[in-house]
Amino acid sequence: MPGFELIGKEEFAEIKHLFDESKILFRHSFDHLRNNIYKVKEFEKAFAKRMRVPFALGVTSGTSALRIALAALDIKEGDEVITQSFTFVATVEAIIESRAIPVIAEIDKTLNMDPMDLEKKITDKTKAIIVVHMLGVPAKLKEIKKIADKHGISLIEDTAWGCGGFYDDIPLGTYGDIGTYSFDFAKTMTTGEGGMVVFKDSSLYEKAAAWHDHGHENNPKLPRWEDSRSSSGFNYRMNEMQGAVGLAQLKKLDYVVEEQRENADLIKKSLSDLPIEMRYIPDSSYETADALVFLADSNQTARKCRDALLEAGLGTKILPEAITWHFAGTWDHMPELVKRNGEDLTNAFPISLDLLNRSVSLPIAINMVDNFQIKIREALTTALHS
Ligand SMILES: Cc1ncc(COP(=O)(O)O)c(C=O)c1O
Repeated sequence: MPGFELIGKEEFAEIKHLFDESKILFRHSFDHLRNNIYKVKEFEKAFAKRMRVPFALGVTSGTSALRIALAALDIKEGDEVITQSFTFVATVEAIIESRAIPVIAEIDKTLNMDPMDLEKKITDKTKAIIVVHMLGVPAKLKEIKKIADKHGISLIEDTAWGCGGFYDDIPLGTYGDIGTYSFDFAKTMTTGEGGMVVFKDSSLYEKAAAWHDHGHENNPKLPRWEDSRSSSGFNYRMNEMQGAVGLAQLKKLDYVVEEQRENADLIKKSLSDLPIEMRYIPDSSYETADALVFLADSNQTARKCRDALLEAGLGTKILPEAITWHFAGTWDHMPELVKRNGEDLTNAFPISLDLLNRSVSLPIAINMVDNFQIKIREALTTALHS
């Protein structure tokens, strides 16, 4: 969560440099006026290096990053794209915007995609899987990738919450074919609004780069107004101010994740003897510890925990209070989901419903209140023993 907590002189210095030396806020062109300053390109290069991939594309949001990933994979009307029941609406919106059919897999105790249910949902129309590392915990990537490869299906990682995490020592977002990131204001690193898409394959990158820029191929031999194109696209370009802030935030990413992990560990230790079950973290995971989630024995207990935390001046994050934005079983405003799963959406994903109903998510920040682990423990002890 805390990219915004650290916004300060480094971000300001990048913006000042942009305004003092260039004043060109568009990522392309104006070459003779910009003093060779290209903040978005520099940010993309630095991000690709950090994620150990050859290509990164700066975009306007994590939502557009997903839409671009699907466009790069040539997802078309009638194709099926599988994602998980616990995610933000954006993941499913991107599938719907691509005119594809969203198919929802259940989650398991990782609170991410259940590989077994994923395999059951695959049909000959399935063209892509979007796995989500919800709240910074890596999904079971090894199993999921194996299934994707077995069926010849592309794998996208929605890494909105997982930026800075690893699985098998591989940066999250780079295990599958395409990784998407969000830099909105609640994320581990932020550019206010913004996102990134990363690729290992040059042709996917080139397709995405053109598609996010009205089809512009940015042919170096042609001026932009005469540029070549092979398809139409849209405008999801990141601007230079976002690029400038992103450069400064990226340098803080590892520090943010380390601090979050330390704080999450302190809480975990202090809760170790309470009658709760911690969310399952897959082996070989290095989570970003964006939040710490535990399961209570019932929805009633989960709500009691939230009330006690609020009373103590603490809070929860997404679970249990904001489940309606993050659980596909509540999205009856999406006819595409109702058509496939029936009117009774709430009960269409019973395993997810049970797990999410019982989950409580504790937000982790860098600047926590004094003795936060003791205060959280006291509040939860009261709730769990009342
Ligand atoms: C899992 C997930 N995917 C995608 C997004 C969309 O990101 P953005 O807000 O940058 O559009 C979010 C935002 O919270 C998210 O949680």
